[in-house]
Amino acid sequence: MRDFDEHNITDSVIERFGNTPDPRLKAVITSLVRHLHDFVRDVDLSFEEWRGAIDFLTRTGQMCSSTRQEFILLSDTLGISMLVDAINHRQRGGATETTVLGPFFVADAPRQPLGADISGAAKGEPLYVTGSVASGDGTPLGNADIEVWQSDSEGFYDVQLSQDLNLRAGFKSDAQGRFRFWSILPSCYPIPYDGPVGDMLQATKRHPYRPAHVHFMISAPGYETLVTHVFVNGDRYLDSDAVFGVKSSLIRDFSHHPAGTAPDGRELTQPWHALNYDFRLKQDISGKQR
Ligand code: BEZ
Ligand code: FE
Repeated sequence: MRDFDEHNITDSVIERFGNTPDPRLKAVITSLVRHLHDFVRDVDLSFEEWRGAIDFLTRTGQMCSSTRQEFILLSDTLGISMLVDAINHRQRGGATETTVLGPFFVADAPRQPLGADISGAAKGEPLYVTGSVASGDGTPLGNADIEVWQSDSEGFYDVQLSQDLNLRAGFKSDAQGRFRFWSILPSCYPIPYDGPVGDMLQATKRHPYRPAHVHFMISAPGYETLVTHVFVNGDRYLDSDAVFGVKSSLIRDFSHHPAGTAPDGRELTQPWHALNYDFRLKQDISGKQR
């Protein structure tokens, strides 16, 4: 076959993949070619735009390092990450809703005993976090692994400040599935915008902010690992999250309390906040374990 034109090239390219042995790969690549060709025809792509796109993707790749994943950020800001999340978590059956992992998770963060204060050197209004982990039917899950991480009161994660790890920790739920720890109130913050994704946001007059939240990753044998956040009610960015990650069921009041004695007996000389969230995990029917 030769003499390709804008009308016959798509079927010819797809035909060239006809011998792909893996049926899933064949289906995905066929659909990819069809959608990409339709897109190019739809926008009547100029050579200049094509070169601009290649340059944008090249810069996106060049921005990636062991601490920066610009392609995931691009996926996040185009809503692809949350679309993949939605497709893969269609039936929650009472389990807690999920949202994006984000780039600031660190494996093997310090293990802490229940009740610990994870704020380290970070300054801010104290936050007492309590909650529980249970199965979809409410059965408490003791000894569940609970990873938490969050920004400081100025919107920075520890890894952005190249300080010691703080405002992150790993806990184990107690025999009744409960957990508790002290932290500080997180702030809204901009996603990293000093690269091509930031250029895209600026060119399209989009802001880079995420509403304030605390990240949780919770796992227990026999259950799907839950990756989610709890968002601070009232945050000004709840309806315009740069990465489309907000779900109403994940918003909570971080209630404000005057100085005094907290429920665990801690004496506070300044006002503090409290957050409670009861998480429900989904049974893992695939047999896969994290
Ligand atoms: C975060 O919540 O940490 C995050 C998520 C997606 C992109 C950037 C940051
Ligand atoms: Fe975050």
